[in-house]
Order: sequence, then C-alpha cells, then structure tokens
Amino acid sequence: MEFHKSSILSVRQFDRESIETLFALARRMKKIARRAVRCRVLEGYILGSLFFEESTRTRWSSEAAFQRLGGGMINTTDVRFSSMVKGESLEDTARMAGIFCDIIVVRHKEVGSATKVARAAGKPVINAGDGPGEHPTQALLDLFTIMEDRGSIKGATVAMVGDLKHGRTVHSLARLLMLYGVKYIFISPDLVRAPPKIVRELRGNGFAVKETRDFEEGIRKADVVYMTRIQQERFTDPAQLKVVNDGYYRLTARHVSRWCKPTAIIMHPLPRVNEIATDVDRLRQAAYFRQVENGVLVRMALYLLILGKEGKFV
Ligand code: NCD
Repeated sequence: MEFHKSSILSVRQFDRESIETLFALARRMKKIARRAVRCRVLEGYILGSLFFEESTRTRWSSEAAFQRLGGGMINTTDVRFSSMVKGESLEDTARMAGIFCDIIVVRHKEVGSATKVARAAGKPVINAGDGPGEHPTQALLDLFTIMEDRGSIKGATVAMVGDLKHGRTVHSLARLLMLYGVKYIFISPDLVRAPPKIVRELRGNGFAVKETRDFEEGIRKADVVYMTRIQQERFTDPAQLKVVNDGYYRLTARHVSRWCKPTAIIMHPLPRVNEIATDVDRLRQAAYFRQVENGVLVRMALYLLILGKEGKFV
C-alpha cells in the first residue's frame, strides 16, 4: 500500500507491511506528542476537520495530532455550521475544503460519505466514521494498543461485546484483524448481532467466529475484551432500543477478576455509557485511556506518511 497522497477510507486498504511502517513511525511520535521534542514539520499545512456528526475524541485527537506537528487547521465547530444549514451539498463543501486544505478528516452519518468527499476534494481524506460503515483510524489505534500492550496479536482470541450491528469501530477492527491469526467471539443481544455480511466474510476467509449472547462464557476465553456502547442514535424503533437496553452488558472490576484471564486487556473506543463500571479503570488490564493516547501517535504518523514528511520530522 502507498501512503503518499492517499486517502484512508477503509481498513481494507492495509496490509501487514503498511501497518508495520505506520506503527514504527507512531512509536517515534511519543516524544513529540508529549512535547519533550518540538516539531514543526507541518508548519504551513492546513487540516480540514469536517465533522458533520457528533464527535469528541476523534476530532480532538485528529486536530491535536496535526497541531503537535506544527500544522494549522480549519474546522466545523459544530454539526449545524453554515453550509449544512443553507443546504449546500456535501460535494460542494468538500470541493471548497480541497481548495483551503492540504488534507481532510471527515465524519458524516452516511455510509460512503468519505469516498464522496475524497472524490470532490481532490486532496487526501481520512474517514473518521461514515455512519455505521467504517472508522479506520480507530481500528488502527486499537490494533496499535493491542500490539503495545501484549507485544503481539498472533493467536489471540478477541471478544467484541455489545451493539455489533451498528458499531463501526467493531466493523473496522474485525476486518483489520483478518490480517493476523485471531479468533473472534461476538457477544451481543439478538437484535444487535454483527452484520451477517461481516460474519460471512470472516468465516469465508477461514477465521473461527463464535456468536453468543452469554457475556460470562464469551469473555472467559478472551485475550482482548472489546466493549462497546449501544449506538442509540442509529435506532429507528424506540421499542427495539428498550429491549436492547434491558438486556445490555455491564463489566465490573469483580467480573474482570472472576471471569477474565489475568492477561486479558479491556478495551473500549469510548464514549462509555454504563457498559464499563468506573471501578475497572484502576485495573492494569484497562486499556481504554491508553487507546486515546495511542490515537494521537497513530494519527501523527499517518499525516506524515500521507504528506510525504516521514523522513523529515527531526
Ligand atoms: C466511536 C465512534 O464514533 O464510532 N467513538 C470514537 O470514535 N472513539 C464509538 C462510539 O461512538 O460508540
């Protein structure tokens, strides 16, 4: 895979070699991210930070990563900014962003929206979530965290828990992990099982996928427990949301100590709602705030590779 001038729209673009390149560079970003080393390599570059759907972490992380490297940015301060209110098309907004910016990060509620923006903007675009579609940079930072915490992912059993139907981070991570020899356990209420298309894809590629409703049984065997919230904004039927809410999972420190392998790590893309009790936070296994830190490193490395600055940052 070629990073230079490329858009990052799906995890399907990646192979193991490109991931190794990206992660090696991400590790070298630690000092810059902590400001132990000053870096202005992206001075004069402008990031277009286009979030048409709610975001806290991904937006802050994408913007902080660019600014840590000396770049500037223009952004949509909230989802009701002018072009949306006036009825401008996504394509026109994208085309303009392509005039002002060198690289664009976009989040939008429609599946395929990032691809549309990339076509219209003519500049590299990073998909920061296209509705229930994909969220490739989240999957990359998730994988980076697993590698940093465990040393390797080979042979790991990964349990994905919760709203697997609508959770785009799950869709991207499940696909990305196909590059490695993992086993999958999908734990969810019936109404929000993983899309059959994804399950078929994984099985068709020779991967073991177990689907269950049983939280305890599912997480006992896991090396990675990837919790997710109910994506309540994607439900059209309030009655269905209530059913899912009523049977939802909640992980507590007691569950971790009684059920999980001592070496298992607990992950979450955040925001959490009730599915991880705060008493889990103090456990060594809790990796979700490390994921946030790692997200900045991975996004910094990605910008450098896309903008062809990877050899010039010190
Ligand atoms: C996720 C998202 O927006 O898909 N958050 C994130 O980017 N870290 C997960 C979620 O909203 O549940």
